[in-house]
Amino acid sequence: MSKTFAVIGDPIDHSLSPNIHSAAFRELNLDCSYIAYKISKGELKEGIESLKKIKIDGFNVTIPHKIEMMKYLDKTDESCSLIGAVNTVTNTEGILKGYNTDMEGFLDPFKKKNLRVRGTKILLLGAGGAARAIVAGFAKEKAKHITIANRTLEKANNLAQFANTIGLDTKVINIENVENDLGQYNIIVNATSIGLKNETSPISLESMRPKTIVYDIVYLPMNTDFLKKGKEREGIVIYGYEMLLGQAVRAFEIWHNIEAPYNAMKKALLGGV
Ligand SMILES: NC(=O)c1ccc[n+]([C@@H]2O[C@H](COP(=O)([O-])OP(=O)(O)OC[C@H]3O[C@@H](n4cnc5c(N)ncnc54)[C@H](OP(=O)(O)O)[C@@H]3O)[C@@H](O)[C@H]2O)c1
Repeated sequence: MSKTFAVIGDPIDHSLSPNIHSAAFRELNLDCSYIAYKISKGELKEGIESLKKIKIDGFNVTIPHKIEMMKYLDKTDESCSLIGAVNTVTNTEGILKGYNTDMEGFLDPFKKKNLRVRGTKILLLGAGGAARAIVAGFAKEKAKHITIANRTLEKANNLAQFANTIGLDTKVINIENVENDLGQYNIIVNATSIGLKNETSPISLESMRPKTIVYDIVYLPMNTDFLKKGKEREGIVIYGYEMLLGQAVRAFEIWHNIEAPYNAMKKALLGGV
């Protein structure tokens, strides 16, 4: 029987998820479709009801619903309850179960490239929703220390508290005071939304060491100014699309219980960037 999947959020027009999942269906000859469904802030409850009515098989959740969606789940997996946000949902005869594949998606490029996280010192720029999944991922992989740099210190402090409770040594600074001593970090992650509109990198990266891992989770444009600066300093670059692909692959495998066609999904994604 034909199955239907969706991504819900607002804005949703430019979501790359329909392309990625549809390419996987084509590659594996699956009788499935995947749609982008706009649900605005404040309309989540009604939106979920209509998805249940059409017997949606599963859906991804994106901005602004990742946290609020937790209220409408009947079950949660471990990553979802740890992070307190959901990006992937299964619907089994009306029972909604939530997962968070952002954490594994974020870690995926480290695994694929054999890059070590254990024992590292990290600088994380940003303290929003995505940063929380990233902190959980670093704790899972036993990083040693994380400095959280954000514009709004209250948010950074909240995130640091979460990081502490899951075993990370943590420090908080204002993003404007980061510049001086980047040489101490093994990994620098941009988890702010700076770059989406082609803005200049949130920090200059001048003092970073060569071979520092420079990871931008912004995926459009692919070559953000942050990553360009990282390359100039001979950093090891990880692109935002790699995380996007990682979380989509995990979501696919949760829904279909078969190995995802990584290369076909990657091709669809890069073709669209
Ligand atoms: N590659 C992927 O798979 C993937 C997955 C998830 C998200 N993302 C991308 O990651 C980015 C962040 O997503 P999110 O869900 O965490 O968003 P969010 O919750 O809205 O957080 C945005 C973060 O960016 C900071 N920020 C925004 N504008 C800023 C500015 N002008 N100066 C300094 N800091 C600024 C915010 O600081 P304040 O706290 O001070 O406001 C906050 O830390 C988005 O671009 C999203 O598309 C990518």
